[in-house]
Amino acid sequence: MKILAIETSCDDTCVAILQKEADKLNFLSSAVSSQIEVHREWGGVYPTLAKREHQKNLVPVLEKALKEANLLESGRSYKNVSKILQREDILAEHLTEFLKKYDAPNIDYLAVTVGPGLDPSLWAGINFAKALAFNWGKPVIPVNHIKAHFLAPLVLEEGTFPAVSLLASGGHTQLIVSENLKTHKVIGKTRDDAAGECFDKTARIIGLDYPGGPEIAKLAKKETDKEVSLPRPMIKSKDYDFSFSGLKTAVLYKWRDEESKTQDFKVAMAREIQEAITDVLVEKTFKAVEEYKAKTVVVGGGVSANLALREKIKKRGKDLKVILPDLDFSTDNAKMIAVTAAYENEKPLTVDWKELESKPNLKIN
Ligand code: KG4
Ligand code: ZN
Repeated sequence: MKILAIETSCDDTCVAILQKEADKLNFLSSAVSSQIEVHREWGGVYPTLAKREHQKNLVPVLEKALKEANLLESGRSYKNVSKILQREDILAEHLTEFLKKYDAPNIDYLAVTVGPGLDPSLWAGINFAKALAFNWGKPVIPVNHIKAHFLAPLVLEEGTFPAVSLLASGGHTQLIVSENLKTHKVIGKTRDDAAGECFDKTARIIGLDYPGGPEIAKLAKKETDKEVSLPRPMIKSKDYDFSFSGLKTAVLYKWRDEESKTQDFKVAMAREIQEAITDVLVEKTFKAVEEYKAKTVVVGGGVSANLALREKIKKRGKDLKVILPDLDFSTDNAKMIAVTAAYENEKPLTVDWKELESKPNLKIN
């Protein structure tokens, strides 16, 4: 079977096509359009801007993915989409043009992220999926974005259970325990800022660009004799929750109180911010590994690109199966949505496209 998956929960517009024959998986294509440049001046993702970008990018990304998969056939699959896309003017225009040019592709299912995420962003992908389902006559599988971040790596890398997953991105920081591919429990999450958000906000304080994670990581590679020390919030707490806003405040005061803000001081701050965030993430993850007797650890979300975090996880997890997906698979992508759609249930669970709706606070179970 072939699944065409759509992901727009935050600021990446993604379409991927997966082929599954028995248990053999083959990605026919994956296209992503990132909006980092658009959001840079805001220092974070601005939801209405994100939606507008998705509306502009969805059709070109779809076209690219179909082309790469050799599934773009000239023809016409157009039915009037103006009612479905009544609040999506740019998208309606692009899609109408597309559907008048191309036939329905040879796929079996559509899959789309329905939550959690930014409501305006989610709706762009969902309305797009609705319009495609209506035109092409294909069933739709709704997918949970967070679940996709850990379930897809577990499937692809054949993780054994129980598994503990750490999900750390700009919008989420969660620890999840999975008993099998169907049973998952969130055991901890952030009470305030997400780990990526903390990288982004502290980077801004010390004068670095957005997104802050890679900028801090880059600066932290430099050597310095200067030392600063920052707190590791909740590192010893008995639960699995996180809190990063206190760290942000500590950075703000340290930066404000330093008279000579030399490059050396900035490097020392970057190194310590990275150490503090990754120490807390790793400590809590392995506390969960011990308690739940996990055999596999998965790390996902944009923050998992951090090399210091990767090294710490590998070191602490040397007796376990550690799954650290490639960057294009740990940041938002539609491949993970397609895999989850294929594996979450024995037979893909579809819904009537008319019933699809955005669920910005969707839970895992
Ligand atoms: O998963 P993602 O691409 O988007 C969502 O938030 O959904 O994650 C983006 C986050 C940003 O906060 C960014 O600063 C952080 O991941 N990030 C990093 C690194 N690369 C990206 N944080 C730390 N170190 C990195 N190398
Ligand atoms: Zn994500």
